[in-house]
Amino acid sequence: MKRRGIAGAVIAWQRRHGRHGLPWQGTREAYRVWLSEVMLQQTQVSTVLDYYPRLLARFPDVRSLAAAPLDDVLALWSGLGYYSRARNLHRCAQAVVARHGGNFPGNSVELATLPGIGRSTAAAIAAFCFGERAAILDGNVKRVLTRLLGYGGDLSLAAEEQRLWVQAELLLPAQDVDIYTQGLMDLGATVCSRRRPACERCPLAMQCVANAAGTPELFPVKTRRLKRSRRSNTLLCLQRGQRHFLVQRPERGVWAGLWSLPEYHDVVALEAAVQAWPGEGEWLPVVEHALTHFDWTLQPLRWTLPARARLPGDLPDGRWLLLDEALAMGLPAPVRKLLGG
Ligand code: ADE
Repeated sequence: MKRRGIAGAVIAWQRRHGRHGLPWQGTREAYRVWLSEVMLQQTQVSTVLDYYPRLLARFPDVRSLAAAPLDDVLALWSGLGYYSRARNLHRCAQAVVARHGGNFPGNSVELATLPGIGRSTAAAIAAFCFGERAAILDGNVKRVLTRLLGYGGDLSLAAEEQRLWVQAELLLPAQDVDIYTQGLMDLGATVCSRRRPACERCPLAMQCVANAAGTPELFPVKTRRLKRSRRSNTLLCLQRGQRHFLVQRPERGVWAGLWSLPEYHDVVALEAAVQAWPGEGEWLPVVEHALTHFDWTLQPLRWTLPARARLPGDLPDGRWLLLDEALAMGLPAPVRKLLGG
């Protein structure tokens, strides 16, 4: 494999065909770049475009983010998913203030010691902000590089992933590492897609081993696939007059720390809970929600208490909120939808 010319082709392609003018581009301010990179982990640009300006407006700098209650961060993150990112974002901001006087460290090695900043995110921030020659290797870039190199090592094995990091470093250009980094990301997102890559539009098509073999879909090789399970539970949409009942999820587990509807093990448990309550119930259509490790089937019951009824004594701890107050909380997307948001 000839490495010469590859980085140059990526850079030239990025300049002409890559993504430009995104709100987090055109700045070298580490806070803004970091915020965008964390939001872009496992989330498409089109989704982040909605959220990024709102987070930045509410938290214009790292100190304002560090000083905010976690609940406010989760509220703005609501709907973006992978909520551990939001908790780490908050912890990272606090660490930058406490350990670094409010300034992000100026190199990828130190950046990678902060909460929620893995090696690839650290490299992206350092390349964009400081022009550091540091390699990125997120999911999209793994796909681009394994195809380009015809890299058949099993990336489920740490040693094979490590070898790919070495290759990623060997490909780095001497200059314009920021444009190169953005180019790899853009190629992975827009050309070198998982299924049916658009090789005819790829600047690396001539050098690409997988393209020559006609088998780009065989890369990357990963034998240990995530084993997904399924779960089903019930949710209680409890209403009295204009108010909705919300509970805060435990600090650990799914939707940790978010505000949600009371969850019950199953239909039997929920029916047992409500059977002596005044008012009436109605089963709502089932909601299917995919999480990283399992598919979750949620069966919601709407229970309407008479406006002046006494509150049931056996409710969990929670809050009675008007709809707009409820929608301002950090809610998981399916709960927001059930509430009518
Ligand atoms: N994915 C992660 N970081 C990105 C960026 N800066 N631009 C586009 N996609 C990305």
